[in-house]
Amino acid sequence: MQNLDWSNLSFKYRKTDAIIVSYYRDGEWSAPAVTKDFNFSFSAFAGVFHYANACFEGLKAFRGADGKLRMFRPDQNAKRIQDSGGYLDMATPSEEMFIEMCAMCVKENIDFVPPYGYGASLYIRPVLIGMNPQLGIASSKEVVFAVMCAPVGTYSGAASLSTGTAVLSRNYDRAAPNGTGHFKIAANYATSLHPYNLSHKLGYRELLYLDPAQKKYIDEFGSSNFLAIKGDTYVTPLSDSVLPSITNKSLQQAALDLGYKVEKRRVPVEELAEFDEVNACGTAVFITPIGSIDDKPTLESDTITKTYTFGDPSKVGPVSEKLYKYLRGIQDGTVEDTHNWCYFL
Ligand code: PLP
Ligand code: COI
Repeated sequence: MQNLDWSNLSFKYRKTDAIIVSYYRDGEWSAPAVTKDFNFSFSAFAGVFHYANACFEGLKAFRGADGKLRMFRPDQNAKRIQDSGGYLDMATPSEEMFIEMCAMCVKENIDFVPPYGYGASLYIRPVLIGMNPQLGIASSKEVVFAVMCAPVGTYSGAASLSTGTAVLSRNYDRAAPNGTGHFKIAANYATSLHPYNLSHKLGYRELLYLDPAQKKYIDEFGSSNFLAIKGDTYVTPLSDSVLPSITNKSLQQAALDLGYKVEKRRVPVEELAEFDEVNACGTAVFITPIGSIDDKPTLESDTITKTYTFGDPSKVGPVSEKLYKYLRGIQDGTVEDTHNWCYFL
């Protein structure tokens, strides 16, 4: 096992031992190969460099309290990359190939899978990249599918379940109406870098996007879904422009398992005033409590029109904490995995 400061990993690039690659050329995928060479060699004309012909995934592997290695719901990520790559009209790996390459990646980097008990995990990042030379706008015919990983802690680097602040994005959209917000394509992240940087410079942990058509309803954060607790109900937005989060889906089931109600529906911005707890949820952020959300006319403006606070803004809410412990327990092997979400390695 690597000698790392497992309790202070945060979410940053750290070189591991190997990545796994497969190339799609002439209608077929090459056998997945382990390589220690992390550099690709593509033509400068590769579609990815000009037209963002790329999509990706994110999932985690955990070393359980029982010493066993588990990946969390890799079948769901396999399906989503098929949707994202399918939208880009690129070849995509089968579910079997996707899971096999993720498993290979974990095994080849086994010394980087954090020990149980530090709140850390191995983040697995599969990417699909269009690599053949082209000049005009076109989908890529030749593709590389690569799976890489890094040991991670919390996304922000702050302690697990510490609360952060967010700001509404009134003058930037992450996705267009009828656009690509529901796919995990690289282009979505490129277009949101500017407002993301701006909100961070202002000291906010998260930027909360509204529905791009009417700006009346909550969509999601830049890197995660939105979930709120209102009394005994878990509320999360129903929207065509948010990414279908596997964490959110799992937490909705977890909420039902724990006896809460679940509502997936449009969430008007003003309803923020009625929520007891708010969280960002996703693979990287897991469950990140949001203590308050500022509403500003524009991100650049000095005026704060309104600040919404949730419970004690400096503390994680009790329901969010229960959900955190339940889902993390399933991933760690300390809570029974009644839905068979874990894939054992
Ligand atoms: N929303 C966005 C924009 C994301 O990038 C992510 C991360 O994958 C999520 C939501 C959360 O999805 P998941 O829980 O499947 O990681
Ligand atoms: C994830 O949660 O897996 C993500 O991809 C979010 C972000 C790091 C892009």
